[in-house]
Amino acid sequence: MHKLTNKLENKLANELVNEQVSELAKAFSTIRDHTGTLAQPLSAEDCCVQSMPDASPAKWHLAHTTWFFETFILEQFETGFRPFHPAFRVLFNSYYEGVGEQHPRAQRGLMTRPSLVEVQAYRQNVDQRLLALLGQTMAPDQMLQLTALVELGLQHEQQHQELMLTDIKHLLSMNPLQPPYLAWDEMAETMKEAAAGAATATALQWQPFEAGIVEIGHAGNGFFFDNETPRHRQFVEPFSMASRLVSKGEYLAFVEAGGYQNPLLWLAAGWDWVQQQKLTRPLYWQAAHAQFDSAWREFTLHGLQPLALDEAVTHISFFEAEAYARWAGARLPTEAEWEYAAATQTTDYFGIAWQWTTSSYAPYPGYVVLPGAVGEYNGKFMVNQYVLRGSSSATPEGHARLSYRNFFPATARWQFSGIRLARS
Ligand SMILES: [Fe+2]
Repeated sequence: MHKLTNKLENKLANELVNEQVSELAKAFSTIRDHTGTLAQPLSAEDCCVQSMPDASPAKWHLAHTTWFFETFILEQFETGFRPFHPAFRVLFNSYYEGVGEQHPRAQRGLMTRPSLVEVQAYRQNVDQRLLALLGQTMAPDQMLQLTALVELGLQHEQQHQELMLTDIKHLLSMNPLQPPYLAWDEMAETMKEAAAGAATATALQWQPFEAGIVEIGHAGNGFFFDNETPRHRQFVEPFSMASRLVSKGEYLAFVEAGGYQNPLLWLAAGWDWVQQQKLTRPLYWQAAHAQFDSAWREFTLHGLQPLALDEAVTHISFFEAEAYARWAGARLPTEAEWEYAAATQTTDYFGIAWQWTTSSYAPYPGYVVLPGAVGEYNGKFMVNQYVLRGSSSATPEGHARLSYRNFFPATARWQFSGIRLARS
């Protein structure tokens, strides 16, 4: 009797695993295809160029995301593994010392070879092999390890989908022709930057929160990155959170009030940066020229547009966000305040712009780095960066969550990063 029950249980467990694996294979194809769709409006020339060391060519993103599956999965699980091209292991390694040598980041735009066509063939080849691997039968613990790595590879791919868009926007903005990535009516609804519009057109309200011990960090089922754990307690003093993000119109008032010329509003390092870079306005804004017309304009993914005053301001660095908050008589939230507020509110915390916090990107109490090269994914970047919360109009659907911790240095402003104010 027991034996029969065990057999039945095993059969059911196997069916469940098969179902999960086939779901994962479907997700794999959908997400990988979406990356291809994002690259479609670009020419081979668009895909090759690197506009600054922080940004990468689209061709590099297409290859590197493929490299991730080849290096961390096929190399380990595929019988008789042979690399698609032996040089790619170094060429498309971003920062994994555990894997070995890396091609210098700032020289990614000099790679006219491999061609875009070769990189597309690389993608196809690895996709086929990965799907074949998922179709194989293997020991349950091996299958568990494999599916966890595929899931990580897909989350990684989605992160690069957002980076591809921000990098393409930066590249096209440097072209005197100011070409659009896509015309407005060719864009998917979710990708339109102006999706942010309606939410910020409403009057800003202050939502009060009481002091107390709050829990932050990942909880429940579903994927999460190691940096979101462990869930832990933090104490917050009473605070209020803005009901919506700061709009471009509000930020324009700061610009026109001489915000970029007043050292009293800036952190010392921020003021040095503003002076050195001669900054007077956000990235992609084009100042009003009396001799042409009096309207401000901005470069967007759909080309040069009039500055949309009701939309959330984006492409703001930590330093700019911090200075604006000071000028507005407020401050930026901590990540504990943000997560606590976002958990209880239904207003626009996601899908518009990443929101800077004053929290340094540091390990949560009890954080443990994963073993092996995959352990380099998040942990080693926990210095000299600030945490951003929420998600943006460029974040792929299904990628955001309450406990998600994005992070960038205080001067980074080519991401869709904006401002939510808090006050004590
Ligand atoms: Fe990566």
